[in-house]
Amino acid sequence: LMSTQYENILVSNPSPSVTLITFNRPKALNALSTPLFLELNRALSEADTDQKIGAIVLTGSEKAFAAGADIKEMKDKEFADVYKNNFLENWGEMTRLKKPVIAAVSGYALGGGCELALMCDIILASPTAKFGQPEINLGIIPGGGGSQRLVHAIGKSRAMELVLTGRQVTAQEAEQWGMISRVTENVVDEAVKMATDIASKGQISVQAAKEVVNAAYELTLAEGLRFERRTFHGLFATKDQKEGKFFVVVQV
Ligand code: CAA
Repeated sequence: LMSTQYENILVSNPSPSVTLITFNRPKALNALSTPLFLELNRALSEADTDQKIGAIVLTGSEKAFAAGADIKEMKDKEFADVYKNNFLENWGEMTRLKKPVIAAVSGYALGGGCELALMCDIILASPTAKFGQPEINLGIIPGGGGSQRLVHAIGKSRAMELVLTGRQVTAQEAEQWGMISRVTENVVDEAVKMATDIASKGQISVQAAKEVVNAAYELTLAEGLRFERRTFHGLFATKDQKEGKFFVVVQV
């Protein structure tokens, strides 16, 4: 079924409506090299345009979701090169997908790994997960959106602490902070179950729901409410809404 061969990721369909993408650079703790990211973007785009697919799950290994951008690839880079080529700009492609992406995080989600999880729509973590932005220890700062998305997710003080100290937080702490949805054993199975459930809903309303929630990051409250209501109105023109099931709750 999967025609494309990849070297740095594995792509499968654990259920017919879900694409599971697994980072596959175990020896480098799934460091996010440029070749890996190009493959990831290609696989995500394929899943996003495949009519049979309703949701996507991203995961790594037991030991590491991803230990960051590839330090070996980065260490000799010069300003002129990273600036001219807008290094890491293509990381943002995944935030423009229509379909929901769930991150299933075990082990290290550091630097770019943490930022990648933050770009997903939902984060589930196993009790072993550790999140952090260690860039400060390398003389750099987050470059994949961490400094911005963390502020939205956990507030300024906590974001500042993570970015300035490089401290790792546990899955439990990340859950308390509202950075992730929840901590669970068998995190990949749980994520696939959730993705399968989402994929069973009307695709148009799922896409619209993702779009309006994400708009909350960009818009003022008044603009966001207007966008939500207009999108809500638009769904009354869909077949899904006409077929929608209405459950009558019987009072006893
Ligand atoms: N890039 C490239 N290789 C990496 C890597 C990374 N980010 N993280 C780990 N590796 C490699 C190691 O070099 C090592 O390879 P070798 O066996 O060839 O030496 C292998 O993975 C295993 O790593 P360790 O031996 O270090 O494993 P450990 O269990 O002792 O430690 C760890 C695990 C704490 C995660 C440690 O590997 C570590 O600190 N990694 C770097 C984390 C980091 O600084 N990430 C931020 C990168 S910068 C960034 O992401 C920028 C951005 O904003 C986009």
